Amino acid sequence: MVRFAGLVCIAFTGVFVACSAKHDETQVPAQSAPPPYAMPAVLGVDALEDQDPDPNIVEVSIVASRTRAEFKAGSPTTVWAYNGTLPGPLLKAKVGDDVVVHFKNDLAEPTTIHWHGLRISDQMDGSPRIQNPVKPGEEFTYRFRVPDAGSYWYHPHVKTDVQVEKGLYGPLVVFDPKDPVYDGERFLVIDDIRLESSGSISPLNGMDYTMGGRFGNTLLTNGRPANEAKAAVEQGTVERWRIVNPANARTMVLGVEGASFRIIATDGGLLPEPYTTSRVTVAVGQRYDLEVTYDQPGQAKLINYVLSQDSAGKVKEVPVPSFVVDVAGSARAPRAIAWPKVKQPDRPADTNATMTLNLQQDADGNPVWTINGKAMAMDPLFTWAQGSTVLLTIVNKIKTEHPFHLHGQFFEILDDASQPGLKDVVLVPSGGTVKFRAYMDNPGRWMAHCHILEHAEIGMMGEIVVSPTPGAPGPDNAPHG
Ligand code: C2O
Ligand code: CU
Repeated sequence: MVRFAGLVCIAFTGVFVACSAKHDETQVPAQSAPPPYAMPAVLGVDALEDQDPDPNIVEVSIVASRTRAEFKAGSPTTVWAYNGTLPGPLLKAKVGDDVVVHFKNDLAEPTTIHWHGLRISDQMDGSPRIQNPVKPGEEFTYRFRVPDAGSYWYHPHVKTDVQVEKGLYGPLVVFDPKDPVYDGERFLVIDDIRLESSGSISPLNGMDYTMGGRFGNTLLTNGRPANEAKAAVEQGTVERWRIVNPANARTMVLGVEGASFRIIATDGGLLPEPYTTSRVTVAVGQRYDLEVTYDQPGQAKLINYVLSQDSAGKVKEVPVPSFVVDVAGSARAPRAIAWPKVKQPDRPADTNATMTLNLQQDADGNPVWTINGKAMAMDPLFTWAQGSTVLLTIVNKIKTEHPFHLHGQFFEILDDASQPGLKDVVLVPSGGTVKFRAYMDNPGRWMAHCHILEHAEIGMMGEIVVSPTPGAPGPDNAPHG
């Protein structure tokens, strides 16, 4: 009830602030106000329109429905999409904003929206364990305050293997007025889809569930075949590329040719120290932000290094250009990027825990993926007090990699200097182990699962509980008002 009362106030505050701003115009000279922060444009995707004039409230409408796309000329594909576009439209906010999303489900089955990576209240996280899924024809309003700047995405959390594959996913950016300023920002949503020759999306099959998940045969960049993604810039331009991998199962290995780049942000936002690398492995659900400096004329290309099997069964690497930029020669010098001070939690672990991933059989002999021996566990795997720092070891008993995702918290991978920064997804290698330090700062009930959606849907899904603790560290995510 208390939470609900607070939410009603937001709407009221919105009206109130809008009115008082108008009133002020007649009394205060315009030049006395500093210019408000303007969020940068993001190229490559359409943005949702903010319906609330209050600069601290973002109010948008999202409808999920069936629509048509055409990936192969003359062979239309039925997709499920947010606001009729693939990917769904970009949700933009700045850190500390209250976000109001009026969601309508025009699909023929129930769904929710999960705001992947945002440390918001569990009541608004789209988990069907907490929120009754939105039925066909019904509406639900998501209200939350965004506590952390970074690149995120949103997708359903009901029958995810089918609903995400059909096209329900969209990008989300939380800006910080202290973010470094670039000549341009882009979002690149790098997906794969499995299409029949008729153009329709292939149904999932048994192997997709018991092996490494559903791999596609067509790479998409921002909802179009990868070879269509193009742009043109002038030499000397410096851009921020925000990349997400929303595929059902495919780990993407990416690099940039014909321009220099460094990694500036991970799932949890800007890195204290950017780093250079020739390739970046983007597990399902992860985000990486690249700072790309077009330092030579010609073509700069984002390459997806795809592993593919030839007819003899030999695995080889195929470099697939997934975004091509024509760079016009120029003597212009790249702008100097001033790196802000980035604070990240850095606390020693006070608790240890282990999660073991396995493929087992249920009572009827059907294969199920498990965490600590349980498929689709309904009781919490662990309960920790808010503010705990958990040294979590994930042991993978199976020769299949698993991108393990924890809702509502960030963590830091240990013993691997090549993966710095805060994450909410970690790739657990085939038959291997990873260790990370998780900052359990956001109270609530949180899903913990493999982000290979076929694995999650047949059991590799559990929940952890973070119990509220007065005075403990926590994200600033209580709605205003
Ligand atoms: Cu990307 Cu449980 O979610
Ligand atoms: Cu898995």
